[in-house]
Amino acid sequence: MSEDANWLVHDHRKYDAALDECELAAGAQEWKAAIALFKEFVKDLELHMRMEDEVLYPLFAQETGDPEGEIELLTDEHENIARLLQDLAIIIKTKNFDHFEDSLHPLHRIMNEHNVHEEAAFRRLGSDSLLMRRDEIMARLKAV
Ligand SMILES: [Fe+2]
Ligand SMILES: [Fe+2]
Repeated sequence: MSEDANWLVHDHRKYDAALDECELAAGAQEWKAAIALFKEFVKDLELHMRMEDEVLYPLFAQETGDPEGEIELLTDEHENIARLLQDLAIIIKTKNFDHFEDSLHPLHRIMNEHNVHEEAAFRRLGSDSLLMRRDEIMARLKAV
């Protein structure tokens, strides 16, 4: 990834670490901490996905015409992730670690696959004209 395109990758590593931390707390039966960590994670990730859905994806679609339908695919992946987050928000309240872990792992895997996919798409689609509008785009992201 070139330095210039880094601003588009933003927080993916952070979410990976947040899920690990949540799993650790749940594994130690520290459910209060696990639930707080999970809630924080969901709030952050939902905002992240909204910034992409509302600002970045439309920009890329507009810029490139999205000939291979990648933005549509990424949007579908967001919907999948959102569904799994909803399920997990219910499951975590049962405080059953095996059940929680069985549901957490697919979310973690699907989220990481989405991030790899998204970073590759952004790298391929990221054009100079978008980089030149970096400040304007950052301001729009902050406004979400
Ligand atoms: Fe995304
Ligand atoms: Fe992302």
